[in-house]
Order: sequence, then C-alpha cells, then structure tokens
Amino acid sequence: MTASSKFVAFDETGAVGLIRLDKPPVNALSRDVRTGILDAIAEASKHTQIKILLIYSAGSMFSAGADLKEFDTGFGEPSLQDVQAALERSRLPVVAAINGLALGGGLELAMACHYRVAHKNAKLGLPEITLGIIPGAGATQRLPRLIGARAALEMILSGAPISASEAKSKGLVDEVVEGDLRASALNFCERLLQNRLGPRPTSNLAAASSLTKADIAEALRAHARTLKGRTTQAFVVDAIKASALPFAEGIAVEAELAQKSLASRESQALRHIFLAERESGKVAGLPARAQEQEAEIKRVAIIGAGTMGSAIAIAFADAGRTVTLIDNSQTALARSREVIASTYASSVKRGRILQEIAHERIARIAAGMQLADAADADLVIEAVFEDLDLKKQVLSALDSILPSDHLLASNTSTLSVTELARATAHPGRVLGLHFFAPANVTRLLEIVRGNDTSGETLATALQVAKLLKKNPVVSRDAFGFIGNRMMLDGYFREAEQLLLEGASPMQVDAALERFGFAMGPQRVSDLGGNDVGTKTRIQLYKRESRPDPYFVIADRLTELGWLGQKTGRGFYRYESGSRDAMPDPEVTALIETLAAQRNMVRRDIKDDEIVERCILSLINVGAMVLEQGIASRASDIDVVWTSGYGFPRHLGGPMFYADTLGLGHVAERIRYYHEKLGHYWRPAELIERLAAANSTFERSTLADDSAKR
Ligand code: COA
Repeated sequence: MTASSKFVAFDETGAVGLIRLDKPPVNALSRDVRTGILDAIAEASKHTQIKILLIYSAGSMFSAGADLKEFDTGFGEPSLQDVQAALERSRLPVVAAINGLALGGGLELAMACHYRVAHKNAKLGLPEITLGIIPGAGATQRLPRLIGARAALEMILSGAPISASEAKSKGLVDEVVEGDLRASALNFCERLLQNRLGPRPTSNLAAASSLTKADIAEALRAHARTLKGRTTQAFVVDAIKASALPFAEGIAVEAELAQKSLASRESQALRHIFLAERESGKVAGLPARAQEQEAEIKRVAIIGAGTMGSAIAIAFADAGRTVTLIDNSQTALARSREVIASTYASSVKRGRILQEIAHERIARIAAGMQLADAADADLVIEAVFEDLDLKKQVLSALDSILPSDHLLASNTSTLSVTELARATAHPGRVLGLHFFAPANVTRLLEIVRGNDTSGETLATALQVAKLLKKNPVVSRDAFGFIGNRMMLDGYFREAEQLLLEGASPMQVDAALERFGFAMGPQRVSDLGGNDVGTKTRIQLYKRESRPDPYFVIADRLTELGWLGQKTGRGFYRYESGSRDAMPDPEVTALIETLAAQRNMVRRDIKDDEIVERCILSLINVGAMVLEQGIASRASDIDVVWTSGYGFPRHLGGPMFYADTLGLGHVAERIRYYHEKLGHYWRPAELIERLAAANSTFERSTLADDSAKR
C-alpha cells in the first residue's frame, strides 16, 4: 500500500495504479471521497512505473452517486467536475471497474474515465429524474457522445438503470466480465497497455447528432404516465439538445439547467420523499441490536387464503421466503392457488420475471388446512375475515402453537391491535401488519404498534418490511391508524360533502386527478368496492362514532347493491367488461335526495374549491394524527400517502405540501371553512401552533427527533 485516505485507498500492482473507493454503504461521492480520488491521482503521478489507473469499489456497488446530503448544504470543493477534469486530463489511461450499481454521479464518474469494464450483474443508471433534478456532472453531454442523443434522452427520462450487457451493446461500457471483476479489469488494463491504447477522454468524442422534434415527442410520450404533472423532463430535453454544441458550451448549459432543477419545488419534494422513506424505518428507542440484526424470518404462515392472504403470500415468496397459506376451506385454497398462478403468469407475460423463477416462487407457497401447520413459522400473519371474535380466536390458538418468541401479526385494518393481542398470553409479540391491496405490489406497510407490542417485535417487523422491499410506517393503535383515518375523516369525507353540496362524482374525480392523484376518490371507491368501505366503517364505528353526514352516499350505494365496477354500477355506471366510468343520472338523483333530507342547498362548485377542501382536510386530519402521537413524524405521513394512497410524489406528500403552501395560509383557510362548514373543520392545534411560530411540519419533526436522540 502506497497511500490512502479514509475512504479512498491507493495501491499499485505492476504497472497498474489502483484507486479503491471504500465509503460504505453506497460509496456516495462526498467531499472526502472526491478529495481522496484527486490525492490518489496525484500520488500515482509520482510513480514512474505506473502506466495505467484502475478505479474500483471495495464494497457491493461502484457508487450510488452524489451525496444527497450535499444537495441541501451545497457542494464543497473539490467538485465532482474537478475530479472528472483530472481524470480526463490524465496522461495515463484510466479504467473504471463497475460492480453492483453505478448510479447518477457514480456513472458520471465512470463516464469521465477513459474505459469502462462492468461485471455482468452490474447495473448502470441515471436516477436523477426521480429526484426532480437533471444529472449535473456531465451525463447530459458525455452520455450522448457515447450512446447517441436519442438513447441518452431515453435513459435519463426513464431514470431506470440498464444491465451491463445492454450498456455494452449501447457502447456505454467496453467489456462485460464474469467472476472476479478486479482480476478481469487488471487483465483488461494489461491488454490496453500491450495494444498501446492510451487516454480516450469522452469529452473529446464527436458531438452527438441533434435530437429531432419527433425523437423528443416520442421519448416524452413513452414516459408520459410517470412524468404526469412533472417539469424536470423539460430541463433534460434542453440539456441533451445542448450536447450537439462543443463540449465546453454544452457543459455550461447543463450546469445552468442543473441549478434550476435543483432549486425547483419538485426537486425539494422528491428529495424529501426519498429521505422520508429511509427515515420511516427508524424508530427511536428500539433495541439497537434488534434493529441492526438481519431478521430471522425464513418461514412465514398466513392464515386466510382470500385475496389479501394470497397477495401477502406472493409478497413473501417474491422475497425468497417459504410460505404456508392456511385456510379451513378447500374451495378457498383452490381459488387462491389459481389467483397465485395467474398473478405469476401475468408477471411472466409482461416480461417482469422468467418462467422458471415464477415456478420456483409458486413452489415456495404450500397450502395447509390446520392452524397447526403454522407451528414452525417464524412469523404468522392472520388475514381472516374482519371480525373481532374470530381474529381473537385465531390469534389465541396460534399463541399456544408457536414458540413464544415468534411473531404474531394481524392484517386488520379496523380492529384494536391491543385488544387482539390481549387475547393471547404473549401480547408483546403481537402487532398489526396492515398491507394495502394489491399487497404484492403496493409499497406501503403500516406497522401497528399495540400498547403491549415489545420493542423487539417492532424491530423485527421493520426488518420484515425491508425484506419485502416495502416502506414501513409505524402507527399507534387508533381509529383507522394513519392512512385510513386521514382518508375517512379528511379526504374522502370532504369529497362526499362536496357531492352533497352540488358537485358531481366526475367533477370531483377530475379535479383531484388534475391535482395529481392517479384516480379520484369516487373512482377509487368503485374500484375497491363500496361495500368494502361500508364494512370498514361499521367496524370502526365500534371504536368511535362519527356524526351525520358521514359517507351517507357510499353507504346508500352499498345498500342498493351498487358496489362499483364489480356490479357494473357504483358512483358511476360501467358497461360490461369495461372500466370506463360513465355518469349515472340515478346516482345524481340519489345524492340530491340525501342532500334534501339534510336541508342542504345545492350549488355550482368550482374545481379549485374541490381541490382546496379535499387537500386541506387531509392536511388538517394529518396534523391531528401527528399531535395525537398516532404518527411520530410528519414525513411518515407523507410516506403513507405517497406510497399507499396515490398522493402525487412530486408534491412531497400532504404534510410537505402544507409546508410549501405555508402553514399561516393553511391555518387561515381551515379557519375559514370551519366558520362556513362547522365542527368537523376545527383546525388542528398543531397547525395553529406552528403557524403562530411561523414554523413548518418538517422543522417541528426535526426538533422532536433531535429531542428524542
Ligand atoms: N447519498 C447519500 N446517502 C445515500 C445515497 C446517496 N446518493 N444513496 C443511498 N444513501 C444512503 C441511504 O440514505 C441509506 O442511509 P441510512 O442507512 O442511513 O438510512 C443507505 O445509504 C442505504 O440506502 P438504502 O436506500 O436504504 O439501501 P438500498 O440497498 O435499498 O438501495 C440504492 C441502495 C443505492 C439503490 C438507493 O439508496 C438509491 O437509489 N440511492 C439514490 C441513488 C441516486 O438517486 N443517486 C443519484 C444522486 S446523483
């Protein structure tokens, strides 16, 4: 070893100078790493026997890119661009050996090297667009020079990484290797030297041919769904157009656009959500050992082979776990087997997984008819019918079958987890795992902490979420937990109120879809089934009741059997086999009657009022959930709503959005509606308090968190 800094080691073997990046967990290119690389380049120049440089990673990935923390604090010197300039200028050829992931700035670093070798399992990508920014360290100029402007536009707009073999076929890497990457890369270096191949700066390559209008339109169309309501793509297009200019000019355009994108609301919101999703899995006061330890969850049993139970089984099989799906009905088990098979068949058809992987996963799910079949499971999740006595019975029977330190979870969405847990002799090991349909797809997992749930149990549940690649959010045990409480008391309730006051389902849905929700509330109800909502509320009323009018329309639709898409009519009408929602005059008449019974005078309502009321009521109830300690951070609520309820990610979640509106304004508008509409618009005390202090939800959560540490 010749020299090393804390995170970058320099070494040599024969004619090769080795620069090893070693900053766990992801080799983020923080200032100390950048300095380390420059020092290593300088060190190499002192050794005349070194003829070539190789940059590689000591960890599981090449680099996940720029250090996200620096986006807020500002990037110190030396910049990544300084490092890239030193690499490109190097009189020795520089090779990057890419393993695991090369993302964002990590790939930009590799593109500033003269040659690239990738392991066959490596993935290369520019995910910046998912953070609302454009790559700002040369990718918009170097990538088009390497793979062409069209392919570069596609890769940056998609944000998704590509495989090493795709990177090779596009011209982004020179060689793909198997086995020991370092050894293969050294061999590659030897061959370069033998063939006297010297430095090859990417910026010296010919400028890319410019994009045509048709290229741009096609690429934007291909990503229209994920980029709905977004603005970053315009910056991407302009930056790539500039790659037709001489390199120095193009880079200057990129730098200006990168700054603009970084300063945008959209970028602040998306970076907030990225960090919020990582923060939500951390809970103050849990035993550190339990949080760090790998969850020993190898075998899982699920009780109840309905739609939810089957989807949970798929989620665990996807995560490589062995699952026993238990139901006392043969018919239910047979139906579930079909559902599981057809779910995997459709994944294969869409090219998401290979046929043999599907077979393996299906084979990992066994069926059983007795609770005793769950005896060797590390975790049992009951997903039986939502009935307190039935669930208590199941949990208490499982409690006597399972070793006392194994986990028992209920997938209840309405019942008290504390009460369910107390039906067992070991309430400390019981908790709620609230999955969201479709449970194998939806990223949110609400973890409900009963009054007796132990820290160890909670810590293991957080690990379970991690292995399922879900976003966990811990909720206290209360009416509707976090998400449904806000949906029912806030967002959906207000949508119904607006219908009674004169808006149509179509108008309410369209207004909220324009705001950015994938689907408006009435279309969501029709998709899930109005009866599901009614049953949920009936159960919830046993915990707390709500004054009229509270979902009088949806409950009336359930009474009539107008349950939504599955019965061909609900808030809307549906032609047989179609999902297109068509207005239904009979529903309008029904709403008019329900309004008249309450002496409500119907009127024309503007779209702006619909959006403002639905979103403000969501924020207001969110603040109550926070002040009552049901959620422990505002950012957790943002994770719940963006990963489970379709709130637009680029607005950062309801609480972040409230901060961007300004809590003073939010408080004033809520007071206005309180005066106009009465009791249920009572402003949350937390909003009043933060507004008076000119503060934000984000700042108040940060203050709370540091107090807990
Ligand atoms: N800068 C700083 N920290 C980063 C980071 C980055 N670019 N990328 C990840 N991290 C941190 C995470 O915050 C997390 O920290 P924590 O353990 O304190 O919570 C840790 O690294 C592990 O990341 P995590 O996302 O939990 O691990 P994972 O294995 O699920 O995913 C990645 C790894 C790299 C795929 C994922 O973190 C990612 O997508 N990172 C962002 C990449 C990106 O957008 N780069 C472009 C920036 S130019």
